[in-house]
Amino acid sequence: MEKKEQLYEGKAKKVFKTDDPELLIVEYKDDATAFNGLKKGTIHGKGIINNQMSNRLMALLESEGIPTHFVKELSQRETLVKKVSIVPLEVIVRNIAAGSFAKHYGVEEGVVFDQPTIEFSYKNDALGDPLLNGYHALALKVATPEEIETIKRYSFRINDILKACWLSCGVTLVDFKLEFGRLSDGTIVLADEISPDTSRLWDSQTHEKLDKDRFRRDLGGVEEAYAEIMKRLEENMGG
Ligand code: TMP
Ligand code: ASP
Repeated sequence: MEKKEQLYEGKAKKVFKTDDPELLIVEYKDDATAFNGLKKGTIHGKGIINNQMSNRLMALLESEGIPTHFVKELSQRETLVKKVSIVPLEVIVRNIAAGSFAKHYGVEEGVVFDQPTIEFSYKNDALGDPLLNGYHALALKVATPEEIETIKRYSFRINDILKACWLSCGVTLVDFKLEFGRLSDGTIVLADEISPDTSRLWDSQTHEKLDKDRFRRDLGGVEEAYAEIMKRLEENMGG
């Protein structure tokens, strides 16, 4: 599949056209940002890890009946995906209080919920990705009521699948962010990526952070954490 003109460059990925109007190539970069791009840096090797991890997890989700944009890994940093129009919602599922939840509600990080939470942010960098609820999403016409229901159903199911997968790697899935898109026929599929950039992953025993919080919070050992989490997934899913 030939890589054609670049369509878009985001903070962590570039997107290219292909010969097929229904397929795109994404290329993962080592660039890292936080706080809506205020903090910038490089995490060496991150692009390779995020590409491979996201693909493995999306393949797992597909095998469990969740439709995704994933088609085929092309190289260490490049993947062929189905073209979607992104639903401009960041969907966040949480199992344990951390990050903005801990801050907003004055809860200590690490408090385990009786059941997972879900929240939406409006994907709009200029507005700083403000939180919004399902009614706001309808008012803004970013999704239909049926699409919002589908997105919620898939998100909780994805949480169950990923939680179990990470548990068998000795990792606690604290929270994560998903993005969904529409295929040309309107089908909702999981898009974007699932990686340590978009998930909080703690060692189950020590609670050591093995994700992008090491970069966001200047904890050091960023590259080592990405390598460690990838190694655990590979050992668990088979090399
Ligand atoms: P938060 O606690 O900062 O709201 O983050 C919740 C989860 O979402 C965490 O796993 C990191 C992820 N996330 C992104 O993937 N992109 C973002 O822009 C933000 C703010 C969070
Ligand atoms: N990716 C987001 C940004 O640059 C934030 C984050 O992951 O913390 O701003």
